[in-house]
Amino acid sequence: MAALSPVSRIKRPIILIGLMGCGKSTIGRELSKQTGMPLLDTDLVIEEQIGKSIPDIFAEFGEARFRALETALLRYLADHHASPEKRNCIISTGGGIVLKPENRAILRSLGFVVWLNVDVPALLARTARANNRPLLQNSDRAATLTSLLLRRRPLYEATAHMRLNTTDTDIPTIVRDILQAAVLFYD
Ligand code: S3P
Repeated sequence: MAALSPVSRIKRPIILIGLMGCGKSTIGRELSKQTGMPLLDTDLVIEEQIGKSIPDIFAEFGEARFRALETALLRYLADHHASPEKRNCIISTGGGIVLKPENRAILRSLGFVVWLNVDVPALLARTARANNRPLLQNSDRAATLTSLLLRRRPLYEATAHMRLNTTDTDIPTIVRDILQAAVLFYD
């Protein structure tokens, strides 16, 4: 009989948190490919639910409403993933999902939470071309990202089971480190 791969010991979600541009979607896709676990991107789910893009949701309903949608989705996932056969997935989150205490508690109980920490110059470079982030639609993106990181760093720290500094790390190494840690976490 073939030995079970270590990845099969990961019984619940791997959840990626961190600032805009830190690589959650890219790393999430790669984790999904390597584990066969489906990828759930909270921003995409909300866009599908509402039938509007994130910038349109912010413009039409405001940030507070978007935050309420994030919480509703996490509550749903917490219920949904209570059933063992539905536990496995990779969850990529929006950068502000840690703002509410309730969200932080749900995230920690839902799965293995990994904070992808990237320094501001790298975040600036990675978010330079995209115009799909309402919080970065202003003239001083460096100042915005710096103040977001300052405010959110303790929240990411408090939510994550694992912190990875990924500014200069290649994707295969990041993915390998996350999978190794997740296997240990669920052993
Ligand atoms: C946000 C990050 C975005 C998206 C929204 C708000 C934030 O997601 O949820 O624009 O508050 O940092 P990404 O981190 O995937 O860009």
